[in-house]
Amino acid sequence: MTALLRDADLAAAFDRGARAYDRLVAVNPGYHAHLRRSARRLRLPHGGAGRHVLDLGCGTGASTAALAWALPGARITAVDASAGMLRRAEAKRWPARVSFVHAPAEDLARAGVHGPFDAVFAAYLLRNVTDPDGVLRAARAALAPGGRLAVHDYALSGHPLHRAVWAAVCKGLVLPLGTALGDGPLYRHLWRSVEEFDSAPVLAQRLRRAGFAHVRVLPLPGWQTGIAHTVLAARPGREAEEAAAPPQAAAADPAVPAAAAPGHPVGGSA
Ligand SMILES: C[S@@+](CC[C@H](N)C(=O)[O-])C[C@H]1O[C@@H](n2cnc3c(N)ncnc32)[C@H](O)[C@@H]1O
Repeated sequence: MTALLRDADLAAAFDRGARAYDRLVAVNPGYHAHLRRSARRLRLPHGGAGRHVLDLGCGTGASTAALAWALPGARITAVDASAGMLRRAEAKRWPARVSFVHAPAEDLARAGVHGPFDAVFAAYLLRNVTDPDGVLRAARAALAPGGRLAVHDYALSGHPLHRAVWAAVCKGLVLPLGTALGDGPLYRHLWRSVEEFDSAPVLAQRLRRAGFAHVRVLPLPGWQTGIAHTVLAARPGREAEEAAAPPQAAAADPAVPAAAAPGHPVGGSA
């Protein structure tokens, strides 16, 4: 039987796990520093002043805090499917430029979350969703042409040593700690979801297939070397998208407005 949790089961596990989540990540060396590093890697100019950033799967707000720190000028909309995780996030102190929305990443518009965003940050999200390609398409559609994506996650390098370290950390620390706190199924899911989801190079390919350009895999240091990565990408600029799409397809795609609305393309575009 697979240990993977999906959809309502996963949201319920995160609802329950929200109580202990912050305590668990606090004992994970590098967790917050790595999120800040990935947020900085978005390299939005002028500290993100005048830009709007979407934090997809914000959880208890660890990734949101990293974005708020790295981009002190940006407006941040943070979204999560678990009401319990979101309550924990909302209970913290935030500047007025940060707001939270309870919504699945797959259905942002229904929850009133509309782009165009200048950047999307997805930390520890993609391997949790049933349809990662659908979530990537939604992220691309939410971005302005030229907007940036940072996927931050445990995605193994492909080297057997890193897979062995991941298994040892999970068996020796993550699972015993998670189980002691009453969240065994959630942390078994964490272990297995990383083993069963894309390696970092395969994840990069997935982003390219979803229509992202300038895809780059960047390492993270510490025990997470070869285990956690930032994968950076950009929605192609308007000209590149128009050149790539047949005219009728471009007009039919709501993500590619025929008459361009003025967004804030942030470079990195083709
Ligand atoms: C491991 S936590 C990461 C939270 C946060 N980004 C961080 O860096 O600490 C993953 C989060 O993704 C959320 N999530 C999972 N599937 C989702 C979906 N389809 N839509 C939105 N959020 C989802 C979970 O509820 C959970 O809060």
